[in-house]
Amino acid sequence: MAKNLTVNGDTFELMLSERTIKNRIKELAAQINSDYAGKTPVFIGILNGSFIFFADLIREITIDCEVDFLKLSSYGDAKISSGDVRLLKDLNCQVTGRDIIIVEDIVDSGLSMQYIRDLTLRQNPTSFRVVTLLYKPASVKSNIQLDYVGFTIKPEFVIGYGLDYAQRERNLKAIYRMKS
Ligand code: IMP
Ligand code: MG
Repeated sequence: MAKNLTVNGDTFELMLSERTIKNRIKELAAQINSDYAGKTPVFIGILNGSFIFFADLIREITIDCEVDFLKLSSYGDAKISSGDVRLLKDLNCQVTGRDIIIVEDIVDSGLSMQYIRDLTLRQNPTSFRVVTLLYKPASVKSNIQLDYVGFTIKPEFVIGYGLDYAQRERNLKAIYRMKS
């Protein structure tokens, strides 16, 4: 696996290897399988960023479950969250009376999660929890609760494993951080 990459003239270094990510996902899934034993939660992936994490996580889930997707846009092609969250694809599933598990790639400002929470809770789910692969606590600007966190990271820009840089690099197998 490459230790360094150059994208748009910026240098990135390996932060989380494929193996490290896979191992942590197994742990998160084991916790979810145990917490939701006997239930049939709906996993809701937030597009586009969570698609790879979602696919890996869901294959470690052994309880009955359903899946759906929400598509949001807040960043455009910038590296800093605009805070202007827009809904590009709504849910198709019935939320009322269901156990909802939101699956995110990363919580940065937390504004997207705030929006998702408000949108979902309006439809009265039985329960609402969040799993995020990455969490940048120093960047959070809103009051949100995260139930399952893969890795807590510094407020640095990361790419790969679903996370993009101006829509590119989502296909990298590992996660890389931008070098300052
Ligand atoms: P938030 O609303 O600021 O918490 O961030 C929302 C979305 O921005 C995340 O779901 C990601 O898709 C994207 N994002 C946040 N931080 C990064 C990053 O470091 N690299 C790539 N995308 C990011
Ligand atoms: Mg995202």
